[in-house]
Amino acid sequence: MDQSKRKFIGACLGGIAALAVAGITSVVYPVFRYYLIPRPDGGGKGKTTIPVKDILPGDAKFFEYNGTAAVLVKKQDGTFVALSAVCPHLGCIVQWEQDRQDFLCPCHAGYFTADGAVISGPPPRALEKVPFTVANGIVTVG
Ligand code: FES
Repeated sequence: MDQSKRKFIGACLGGIAALAVAGITSVVYPVFRYYLIPRPDGGGKGKTTIPVKDILPGDAKFFEYNGTAAVLVKKQDGTFVALSAVCPHLGCIVQWEQDRQDFLCPCHAGYFTADGAVISGPPPRALEKVPFTVANGIVTVG
């Protein structure tokens, strides 16, 4: 094999190795980051604050709380409910259905009331309640 072929094959192998490292890094790092490094924006044990004016009656606002998905609902009567957005069946994230004023779990068609109680479907229990307070126009969750 002549010198130019060796250089070419060496360059190709080097390129393949670089792509393999980049590919592995791009997969491994996000997994590592998600599971092992605490998130600074509400992903820890801290509190999450949401201005009352940022959520209209009949609407819901999703946020991250203690490293998982949570949701604040402002019911039509103006009262608030804070819930885990994780379905107790198999852990999918529920969706707010504003027109129906309830939650749908898209994985297996589980339905929950705005208060988190099971309406129908396979979920074995209600959405978990999350503690919160309302003061000075701010909802503080946690
Ligand atoms: S994960 Fe929600 S209904 Fe199955």
